[in-house]
Amino acid sequence: MNIISAEQFDRRQIQDIFSLVHSPVKLNKILSSLFDEPSTRTRLSFEVAMYRLGGNVVSTENASQFSSAIKGETLEDSIKVVSSYVDIIVLRHPERNSAERAVRHSSVPIINAGSGDGEHPTQALLDVYTVQKEMGRMDLHYCLVGDLKHGRTIHSLIYLLGLYEGVKITLVSLDELRLPEEILKFIKDKGISYKCMDSLPEAISERPDVVYMTRLQKERTNISYAGYDSFQLNRELMSKLKDDSIVLHPLPRNHELPVELDGDRRIACFRQAANGIEVRSAIILGCFYNV
Ligand code: NCD
Repeated sequence: MNIISAEQFDRRQIQDIFSLVHSPVKLNKILSSLFDEPSTRTRLSFEVAMYRLGGNVVSTENASQFSSAIKGETLEDSIKVVSSYVDIIVLRHPERNSAERAVRHSSVPIINAGSGDGEHPTQALLDVYTVQKEMGRMDLHYCLVGDLKHGRTIHSLIYLLGLYEGVKITLVSLDELRLPEEILKFIKDKGISYKCMDSLPEAISERPDVVYMTRLQKERTNISYAGYDSFQLNRELMSKLKDDSIVLHPLPRNHELPVELDGDRRIACFRQAANGIEVRSAIILGCFYNV
């Protein structure tokens, strides 16, 4: 199985992947991580996951500078060659359609670990896993905050939320950073109950169950959005949130999620990041066993 977009999954497949968490199966395989954009969590958690499964890893970080890409090699040629060396490829690339392009030229499974401002399907699987683990259900009110336009984790998460009944979504952003049209259309077509807001305090006053914060994707826009500062959580807003709500963030965070809030049990983003190892182990197994 390849993982290209969160849109490819149904609920059964997601549960099948999660059922592989803590599987005793060992893999005598090699994973290559080809990362052509910065990453800490995604790359390291895939690599640690592969080592924990008994496999091995070869990787290029900053592929555009340190691999043959700088000598003019195309993504297609790199994938053709690397797929003849290894058993599975985890790819992060600045172009939206990079994972589809890679799949066409690969003889091994491709996992999209972030395709420009498009998608980040394995983060979304990890986010759903975290919500299930923390809240025990998916039919919740989700408040998605920040750079909804360029935030690929948000896009993939919405595709997965579309699979569950009783989901309600509040989209909180500056006007200029609203969700791309095609994803808003997905929400409408699925009949998900949603609303768009441009004030975080107002959205919090509706007492959502899950608040999903994101940073401004500065590397994807050269405009500086002065108003972004108001999309910041603080103690006052936390005091208005329900006791059993959680705050997620794919990380890295900027000022939108201040460090001073970390002692609050409802800030779940570090538990979310830690779940990356088990979910990504399950994803790797799922790719080999075609769930
Ligand atoms: C995210 C990404 O790369 O899209 N990070 C991650 O994978 N956890 C979020 C971000 O960079 O803001």
